[in-house]
Amino acid sequence: MRINLLPEEVKSHISSGEVIDGPAECLKELLENSIDANATRIEVEILKGGKRYICVKDNGYGIPSEDLPKAIMSGATSKIRTLEDLQNLNTYGYRGEALHAISLVSRMVIRSRFYQEETGRELRIEGGKVIAQREVGMPVGTQVEVYDLFYNVPVRRSFLGSEDKERRRIYRVFKELALANPHIAFRLEAEGREVFNIKPAKDLRDRSEDVLRQKMEYISLEDPPVRVELILSLEKGKRESYLFVNGRPVQNKKLIEHLKTYGGITVCHLQIPPYLVDVNVHPKKTEVKIHLEGRVRELLKKAFNLRHKHSLPTLAQEKPEYSLEPEFIGIIDNTVIVAKYGDYLYFFDQHLLSESYNYEFKGLNEDKACKVSIKAGERLSVQTARELLRGWVQLKNKESCPHGRTLYYRVYLGELYKKLGRVY
Ligand SMILES: Nc1ncnc2c1ncn2[C@@H]1O[C@H](COP(=O)(O)OP(=O)(O)OP(=O)(O)O)[C@@H](O)[C@H]1O
Ligand SMILES: [Mg+2]
Repeated sequence: MRINLLPEEVKSHISSGEVIDGPAECLKELLENSIDANATRIEVEILKGGKRYICVKDNGYGIPSEDLPKAIMSGATSKIRTLEDLQNLNTYGYRGEALHAISLVSRMVIRSRFYQEETGRELRIEGGKVIAQREVGMPVGTQVEVYDLFYNVPVRRSFLGSEDKERRRIYRVFKELALANPHIAFRLEAEGREVFNIKPAKDLRDRSEDVLRQKMEYISLEDPPVRVELILSLEKGKRESYLFVNGRPVQNKKLIEHLKTYGGITVCHLQIPPYLVDVNVHPKKTEVKIHLEGRVRELLKKAFNLRHKHSLPTLAQEKPEYSLEPEFIGIIDNTVIVAKYGDYLYFFDQHLLSESYNYEFKGLNEDKACKVSIKAGERLSVQTARELLRGWVQLKNKESCPHGRTLYYRVYLGELYKKLGRVY
């Protein structure tokens, strides 16, 4: 978390380039920093399509007060120190250029309070120069305000689009990062009006429905080592596609074209081993080359067909071929059933799960259901555990047993991966 100035030999290995083309790119950089800072809530405010004002406020771990001036220096990053670090990267940023680039072409106010400090610090910067700083009281986290982007580069300012156009680009960036980070709460206010207020979601489909304001369907398919999760709007009409590789929004012309053939809104999350993806072919870190692209396209085709088949009334009774079932992993102490479902690892209480099952499916009353149910400590066959898990998906009340006790505890896999230093 401490900010270092990269040595020249490291800097020269990093493809730098003009990162800030306009308000949307600026917002993207600020959001990525907030996500990297482990924020669980991020609030955005823009005025005049972001041309007049962009503000990103987060509750992440903050920047140590004495490092704050460094944060806007070229090559200032807490994310890598050495060339080896470059190879093991799982953050959005690493060049230490974004804040610097933005500060050079705007009036910026940055406030931050580090989680281990009692107060925050505020810097006012104009055209890259710190013009004032002071101590401020604030909650832990960081707030960056960007006024008048390109105020001192009139040519570039004149190349910006209309307010409407820039606002649409801002929404796109905002939606991409919100779709990619379902566990983070996001809010966006534009021209003084709340446009998005997105609660933490339980899975990718939930988040997609919240962000895109459509009923959506989830399909997941795997052809190792590639896994595809597709979230498709039930209604066609509006065409919009979002592509993510290993949790990051990316561009890949061919795949996006393929997604567009669906005709509705498509959100596609690909999991591919990092060694099969070249993320850094583009200085903006968005255009990717995928080595198994053909295989990915085949998988997408299959997934679209499934969706098609599934929606035909004659086949509606058929069990869907794609897996919406929790994946049984094991049983701990003859008491806790462990399963993977969507983006979570679930720990079910076997007694409560069985009780809910008997209550809802066999129509037993609470007490009877409790009595006949599998007890904690009782040895279950894998088959029974699987049956209980399949039953759980169909339950009306998936959260608690008839007496109101919680059925499960779950862990977001992204969190788990993060703890292991991996990208989910
Ligand atoms: N919202 C934030 N919360 C905590 N630390 C932040 C935040 N924004 C910036 N920082 C700190 O400032 C440093 C510089 O940020 P900047 O975006 O310029 O570089 P970077 O994210 O390291 O790399 P990149 O140029 O690829 O974005 C970060 O490495 C981080 O330590
Ligand atoms: Mg950054």
